[in-house]
Amino acid sequence: MMSEQGEHNGSAGPGDNSGGASRINRFWAVVITIISVLLVIKWLIPLVSRHITNLPFPLTVPGTLVLFYMTLTLVALFLFITFSDENLEEFLRPIYRFMRGEFGATPRLIVLLLVPLLAGWQVFQMRVPKLEPPVALRIQHPSSNFPKKYEDATNPYDKPSEDDVNAFVSQARAGSISLIRQVQADIEVWQDEHSDEPMLAAINTPGVKQFLAELENGDPSAESARAALIEKNLFEGRALYAMNCRPCHGDSVAGDGPMADGFKLRPINFTDNGTLETIVEGYTFWRVENGGPGLPTEATPWDSAMPEWKLNLTDEERWKIIMAEYDLAGKTPRIPESH
Ligand code: HEC
Repeated sequence: MMSEQGEHNGSAGPGDNSGGASRINRFWAVVITIISVLLVIKWLIPLVSRHITNLPFPLTVPGTLVLFYMTLTLVALFLFITFSDENLEEFLRPIYRFMRGEFGATPRLIVLLLVPLLAGWQVFQMRVPKLEPPVALRIQHPSSNFPKKYEDATNPYDKPSEDDVNAFVSQARAGSISLIRQVQADIEVWQDEHSDEPMLAAINTPGVKQFLAELENGDPSAESARAALIEKNLFEGRALYAMNCRPCHGDSVAGDGPMADGFKLRPINFTDNGTLETIVEGYTFWRVENGGPGLPTEATPWDSAMPEWKLNLTDEERWKIIMAEYDLAGKTPRIPESH
């Protein structure tokens, strides 16, 4: 076809473009070719694919292939246009005429404004950061880098040993119970108003009350001492939770704290089934310890905003918070399977 066109052009001589009514101008031939190739790629191939595959959806041509086809088309058109001086001249003629204003000054102004604007818009679209749904689902509880030593770790503060309970009883007797430093200022305020009561009475729960009553009458039972110690630990855990975790995880651990809306990956609702209760305590401890930065790659593409709590909280504080977290959620941790 090209040689035929070339011959035809050669015999007709330069300048004889409008005379041949049989043939459209090279400029429009180029425009029509580009549009046709695009239509074939974007529309015809997907349409035909539905008939071939019988799938309920069309198979679109991948972006890299579109780029590939379009580049080839442009290279072919470039060769075609620059094949001879006549071809090139014919191609450029309408452009020159347009730029000289032969088709009117207003269309020229519109095109001269539109082209840079479109180019600018295109560059902006390429550079602007986008929020796109990930191609793969995120794994909620990734564990590929979960250290083995945490697998059977249990919370020492909700299952205190006999020694812990005995120590607690003797401290209570001596009036030397210590609470975590974060709540001490509040406890002091409370004690100023209740100078005749032991400090432990600030924790106003049935178990602690029962224990204090038994303590006053002599020997408290191991049962109530244990219950009171657990309630004291829970009290501390709740205070720490309110101070550190509540902004994101919410008052009732439902993942609805005041800051939660700010994160693309929201904290999940721990009161839902299938969240906190599906992971073993050691896993929860490890997640709280290392936060988002400690997650392996399968936890991407959305990055977790969960802070790395080992930088700010001690082991004891973290275990106590976890105790409060499960308690607030009304859940119990998963029990590690024996292998
Ligand atoms: C800056 C907001 C933020 C704060 C503060 C925060 N978290 Fe999170 N946390 C998140 C987000 C977001 C997720 C959910 C994404 C994920 O799975 O990592 C999460 C997930 C968790 C998980 C679930 C892990 C899993 O695998 O299901 C636990 C447990 C947790 N947080 C505990 C805590 C504790 C305890 C504190 C306080 C010491 C705390 N978080 C404070 C944002 C926060």
